[in-house]
Amino acid sequence: MKALVRTRYGLSEVLEVMDVEKPVPADNEVLVKVRASSINAADWYEMAGKPLIGRTQMGMMKPKSKRLGVDFAGTVEAVGKDVLDFKPGDEVFGGRNGALAEYVCVRNAVVLKPANVTFEEAAAVPVAAITALQGLRDKGNLQPGQKVLVYGASGGVGTYTVQIAKALGAEEVTAVCSTDKVEVARSIGADHVIDYTREDFTKSNRRYDLMANVSGGRPWAECKRVLTPEGTLVILGAPKAGGPLGPLGYVIRVRLASLLSKQKVIFFIAQFNRPDMKILADMLESGKIKSVIDRRFALSESAAAFAYFGEGHARGKVVIEVSKG
Ligand SMILES: NC(=O)c1ccc[n+]([C@@H]2O[C@H](COP(=O)([O-])OP(=O)(O)OC[C@H]3O[C@@H](n4cnc5c(N)ncnc54)[C@H](OP(=O)(O)O)[C@@H]3O)[C@@H](O)[C@H]2O)c1
Repeated sequence: MKALVRTRYGLSEVLEVMDVEKPVPADNEVLVKVRASSINAADWYEMAGKPLIGRTQMGMMKPKSKRLGVDFAGTVEAVGKDVLDFKPGDEVFGGRNGALAEYVCVRNAVVLKPANVTFEEAAAVPVAAITALQGLRDKGNLQPGQKVLVYGASGGVGTYTVQIAKALGAEEVTAVCSTDKVEVARSIGADHVIDYTREDFTKSNRRYDLMANVSGGRPWAECKRVLTPEGTLVILGAPKAGGPLGPLGYVIRVRLASLLSKQKVIFFIAQFNRPDMKILADMLESGKIKSVIDRRFALSESAAAFAYFGEGHARGKVVIEVSKG
């Protein structure tokens, strides 16, 4: 089968589509023929071997695993003998390392794809939307009636964060993005949109119960100013630059600066689980969330897709069309 691989760290020129062995499902696994995948920041970091501290996991001099990608949507081709909840032909989506390939074997992080969304729309969801869901619900403890600010609202994670905040009952969601993305932010339900090229949200008099930092790296002194006295800053993402620590450098600076504050700062890494994937499938089916897809690339065009994603200004998700039906 064809898969996206790389044997050294670097920019998108290290990526190649090669023939690799097709996986065989274990007794408790499902073999999925992948129709579509999408790119997340973690894939880009794995390609680049950044931040350097991440190499303790990824491999110091060269990547331990050649494969890339996590998000997938496709059709079940075979199931292991212990799998009772899926059958060949089921349309599914989920997350599994190495998903930028024609086939992937998966155990837990897979659910049925709602019939009313395409494979591309479903493949855009897993990592980005589960990050938004867990960040708002579990880390931000978002309650109905609260006011939420989403900083970096127009990329992959941001577009789901705005929609999921509304779906969880936020009274008012304010999206911060650049001029070109103002319409997108409005179209996904933001009550207010702040164009960060024209207005500095940290200088406004509005206060928020929860600030979701998806992109951008404003100092704690500025973030705390826009939070209510008991408000929470959840750091879903942070700027790529930041020396050997990368985004963690920002997280550490903000955590240290906020030590004596009553307002909370929480950073977390999203974790897949099937109940949360099911919640996202239900939100997709009911129309509470929709995927905003910026550009679509074929698997053979993955290098161009990663280069585009790496510019850091996608309008929603960058999707890879892996195979036809
Ligand atoms: N915690 C986790 O488990 C987890 C999981 C997934 C992703 N993440 C993190 O989430 C972040 C976003 O990922 P993504 O997939 O959404 O990336 P993305 O699709 O590239 O989106 C990035 C967005 O950031 C905005 N942006 C860029 N520079 C900005 C600035 N200076 N100020 C404000 N906004 C800015 C861009 O909007 P404009 O073009 O409008 O500037 C763009 O839409 C990354 O840092 C990633 O590492 C974390």
